[in-house]
Amino acid sequence: MELALPHNLVLVLLLACGAGIAPPAAAAASGGGRWDILQHSIGVSAMHMQLLRNDRVIIFDRTDFGPSNLSLPDGRCRRNPHERVLPVDCTAHSAEYDVRTNAFRPLSVFTDTWCSSGTVSPDGTLVQTGGWNDGYRNARTMAPCVDGTCDWNETQDALAANRWYATNQILPDGRAFIVGGRRQFSYEFYPKQADHPSDAIALPFLVQTKDPEENNLYPFVHLNIDGNLFIFAKNRAVLLDYKRNKIVRTYPELAGGDPRNYPSSGSSVLLPLKPSPTEAEVLVCGGAPAGSYNATKDKSFPPALTTCGRIRITDAAPSWTIETMPSPRVMGDMILLPNGAEVAIINGATDGSAGWESANTPAYAPLIYRPDHAPGDRFEEQSASGIARLYHSSAVLLRDGRVLVGGSNPHVYYNFSNVRYPTELSLEAFSPEYLDRTNDVLRPAITDPSPTGAPASVTYGGSMTLQFSVPAAPAPSSRRAHGGGGGGGLGFVSVTMVAPSFTTHSFGMNQRLLFLDVLETAASSSTPGAYEVSVVMPATAVIAPPGYYLVFVVNGHIPSEGIWVHIDS
Ligand SMILES: *[C@@H]1O[C@H](CO)[C@@H](O)[C@H](O)[C@H]1NC(C)=O
Ligand SMILES: *[C@@H]1O[C@H](CO)[C@@H](O)[C@H](O)[C@H]1NC(C)=O
Ligand SMILES: *[C@@H]1O[C@H](CO)[C@@H](O)[C@H](O)[C@H]1NC(C)=O
Ligand SMILES: *[C@@H]1O[C@H](CO)[C@@H](O)[C@H](O)[C@H]1NC(C)=O
Repeated sequence: MELALPHNLVLVLLLACGAGIAPPAAAAASGGGRWDILQHSIGVSAMHMQLLRNDRVIIFDRTDFGPSNLSLPDGRCRRNPHERVLPVDCTAHSAEYDVRTNAFRPLSVFTDTWCSSGTVSPDGTLVQTGGWNDGYRNARTMAPCVDGTCDWNETQDALAANRWYATNQILPDGRAFIVGGRRQFSYEFYPKQADHPSDAIALPFLVQTKDPEENNLYPFVHLNIDGNLFIFAKNRAVLLDYKRNKIVRTYPELAGGDPRNYPSSGSSVLLPLKPSPTEAEVLVCGGAPAGSYNATKDKSFPPALTTCGRIRITDAAPSWTIETMPSPRVMGDMILLPNGAEVAIINGATDGSAGWESANTPAYAPLIYRPDHAPGDRFEEQSASGIARLYHSSAVLLRDGRVLVGGSNPHVYYNFSNVRYPTELSLEAFSPEYLDRTNDVLRPAITDPSPTGAPASVTYGGSMTLQFSVPAAPAPSSRRAHGGGGGGGLGFVSVTMVAPSFTTHSFGMNQRLLFLDVLETAASSSTPGAYEVSVVMPATAVIAPPGYYLVFVVNGHIPSEGIWVHIDS
């Protein structure tokens, strides 16, 4: 897209945006946010979820649980004589949920996807890897479609090692980095390429962080702005130069030494990156004290951790800053909200750990964390859901700014009764406070590129102009427009770009939020009453790996609906 320079720069010229200088909510009610049930049952429990560029969410569970509540079409069945529960299973263990129509359909996955991982490749295809049993080393792809005909394509033994409880991170070259998994102290790449070994590469850090409870599974991985990979396991982290297989930085232990990875599942995000970032911060929240998983076997449920650790991973001598949540949480999902000013911590429990029947008290109310507020003023408890979302629940951001929540199956089977926390087949949406009607007067609406049209195509370092409107915006000649909230109108405008996460087991893999460099915000030269904001896309694939992102215009702290954008070189 070409950068359009409007002639009448009657509005203020905003050079570079900044996270966090936006004024607080114009109408922020405490205990904010709202819950809606979207579907009482989609038939499959949402252990893994990924939003694709067609506004469909691909959902899957494990395949060896016995019958789900969703039949496979056309007499299809999974026939596996080694299957413990159901040798002939004619039910689906994966589904496609269409956000726009609130409809779903069964998908066919025939080898076990239990506790697996994934990325979305640059062409928008979901690439899932690993699982269990007959699915340990498999790769499965799911290409997006709108006609209801696409389905999983499985490749047997595509991986070098069994990847069960592994983590994936998309790389600047578009491939997946796959690390860890049960009894796998190594990493590998997928797809395989000639310039990299096809075997698994040893990562001693995973041996060093293994304890008797294996509290280092599903490590938290973030692609740092220097191209290296931040890998957090148990209670500490390293920075891996995967091209040379060298640990280039070792981070200190997170104070207290409590484990944060499965089964002591906390969660983690790379905090929003500023334009042309020179620094990057990681936040790790919650988890369970060592010994919790063992304790739950004796029906004892120790309180979860209340602490978060925040660290500037780009520092040469980094240290953790400890913050305290208003309540303890294990198995929370951390989701970056599109205004770039808030992180939702959602789902999970206040005691116990991840694992079968291993938590006793659900955490029904999400928390919002505001990274740019003063320490001590960052957390706010939100309104509660009525549904327990324990082990095997998940959450993903949608294009409209809601957070889709599903799953919870803390049993070995699909038990819908006779258990304290039955298997959950429902889908819910959490609407953060910015979606409240009282914020409608401030809500930007992107009009060009069309939010429902084909994804806009952009290149690294290229420019893009977004046209948008704001209901209550005063005439463009009014300087009052930049007062920042008040009675409504145009406040500080920023533009964010979000990589949707592959979420499972309390971690949003590949999740990334970038503030784009805003060149200017001005009255539209072509459409009366509308505005144009011109931004520069990230300069490199290290900052934003190639693929599909959601782009939002944010007025103060109120985000528009997103548009899909495809970035590649
Ligand atoms: C699952 O399906 C059974 C049989 O159709 C039905 O009785 C039950 O209510 C369903 N359970 C849920 C949680 O949807
Ligand atoms: C499935 O994947 C394999 C391996 O990548 C590929 O050769 C084949 O064409 C794919 N099949 C379909 C139906 O897409
Ligand atoms: C947990 O139980 C295992 C198996 O009984 C034991 O080896 C391990 O030491 C225990 N770990 C902790 C932290 O209690
Ligand atoms: C859970 O479901 C399995 C398989 O249907 C069944 O064998 C088991 O008894 C159920 N457990 C409870 C507590 O109902």
